[in-house]
Amino acid sequence: MKFISPKSGYNLQFIICNLLFTFHTVSLAAYRLPVCARAGMAATPHPLATEASVQILDKGGNAVDAALAAAFALSVVEQYHSGLGGGEFAVVWSAKDEKAYALDARECAPAGASAEMYLDPETQNPLPDKSWRGGLAVGVPGSVAGRVELHRRFGKLPFKEILQPAVKLARAGFPLDRYYADRLNGQRDRFANDSNIVKVFFRRNRPLEPGEILVQTALASTLEQIALDAGQAFYRGKQAAHIVAAVNKSGGIITKQDLTDYKTIWREPVKFTYRGIEGWSMPPPSSGGVCIALALNILEGYPLNYIENYSSEYYHLLASTFERVFIDRAEWLADPDFVPQPIGGMTSKLYADSLRKGIDKQFHIPPKSAGDPWLYEPINTSHISVIDHAGNMCAITTSVNTAFGSLVFVPELGIFLNNTMDDFATAPSAANQFDLASGEVNGITSGKRPLSSMSPTVLLKDGRPFLCLGSVGGPRIITSVVQMIVNIVDFGVDIQAAIDAPRLHCQWKPDALYVESAISPDIISNLILRKWNVVKEKTWSLSQGVMFDTEKSLFYGASDARGVGTAGGSAMIDSR
Ligand code: DON
Repeated sequence: MKFISPKSGYNLQFIICNLLFTFHTVSLAAYRLPVCARAGMAATPHPLATEASVQILDKGGNAVDAALAAAFALSVVEQYHSGLGGGEFAVVWSAKDEKAYALDARECAPAGASAEMYLDPETQNPLPDKSWRGGLAVGVPGSVAGRVELHRRFGKLPFKEILQPAVKLARAGFPLDRYYADRLNGQRDRFANDSNIVKVFFRRNRPLEPGEILVQTALASTLEQIALDAGQAFYRGKQAAHIVAAVNKSGGIITKQDLTDYKTIWREPVKFTYRGIEGWSMPPPSSGGVCIALALNILEGYPLNYIENYSSEYYHLLASTFERVFIDRAEWLADPDFVPQPIGGMTSKLYADSLRKGIDKQFHIPPKSAGDPWLYEPINTSHISVIDHAGNMCAITTSVNTAFGSLVFVPELGIFLNNTMDDFATAPSAANQFDLASGEVNGITSGKRPLSSMSPTVLLKDGRPFLCLGSVGGPRIITSVVQMIVNIVDFGVDIQAAIDAPRLHCQWKPDALYVESAISPDIISNLILRKWNVVKEKTWSLSQGVMFDTEKSLFYGASDARGVGTAGGSAMIDSR
């Protein structure tokens, strides 16, 4: 272990604490190796989605085809996390163009939405339940349009072939895993009142149990129709009419016109560099890319490979960094089509330098206000992970927001609709379901997209594909992705260990430093001494990563030990 030298200005109390707490290591999750393959690799949160993805790679599909096959399969086997009723972002590295692309298929506010829609008309008090449950919580879904567009631009195999594994899973059914059954059971009372949900997800008047087969016939037909007409019926035809009817029946305001008007948007990805490695992630309306770039730029100023891995000193610097990132997130970021944003400033090294100066090396001193990235703005204008054998990378983060989204079920389509409207600042200074505050910039306007934290991310090392990463977990996505990158680049661990290592999270408000329970008690005591308000939680975030070893030409994949996911490759060498 390393002791902190008195020469570096630390006080007596602090030195004593460091002497008392001699074990500055964390107990890492049981160690397991990443899986390894020769001809491409996918990592997804569900084994059946990984299987679908590898099938497509084996048939000669590219990274985008394989990621789409996984996304559609997840829409069947993981409807509580993501599905056709949600929205998503994708970041693609095209080996042929040597260029990164970012697709925005985020849900948007219906035309009838307004800043007052979640306020009590008489008292003006926030009505948080309205942005969470029921029709009013639903944003116009983007996932289907996003997948069609991603395939149109980059797909290699026919669209129908890519949807085929998902159709099969929906029609023939699949055995429910523990996670699905737990989440279903969590909504037991609400779902018991909806006979359409009961028909599909209940047996003998109780939710399906682990191991029982979930058959989704309506969903299978919906997927077949999408395979046939590339989303025409979903946005303009019969399927759209069913969505509108389900939303309206449960108090929502989405119209057929809202669905007709929905558009995906290609955006300029956020580029960052970290210790010579180049990366691209999602720009606004996701805060992910900008926040990851800002965090890594701040951390780059610290010699992390000289600081003991996973020590309290490291965690203190990490938390101080995240706190500054999230205060800026709340102040500046939102849908760029509605609010001008200092993206160039927030991602500049000089701006990060200015924020780093405010971080005390020893104690937690919360920042008083957001920084002013406009000063650093240049004057000019301006999770499924797959890497294939040709060096294309595709990272998709897709979501219905919280478990089963708004809980609004469209029976004819067999899908749940999102509650992503809750990602807006629904009332002045109101926090969302992730306790996350955002500023006036993220207020509701008709057609606007709510600010997200989803961060599909690709990185190159020495100009060659290196990492394809992403996570779920609301704001914890950002801090999880940053920790994966630091674990690999600074601490030199493999992709599985980088994902499984215990995490820390700080989002400025509430005043809390969240630590996973695997972080050892001596580190927690040390962080408390540094004046952090430490809150212990079991685990969070599910991350997926694929890594390419350029020297050996091997693909390594890892799915988070916290979930049931798997990684799988084409021409496998080692599986678990
Ligand atoms: O866009 C966002 O930031 C959230 N709607 C993401 C939701 C999420 O990751 C749920 N996972 N626990």
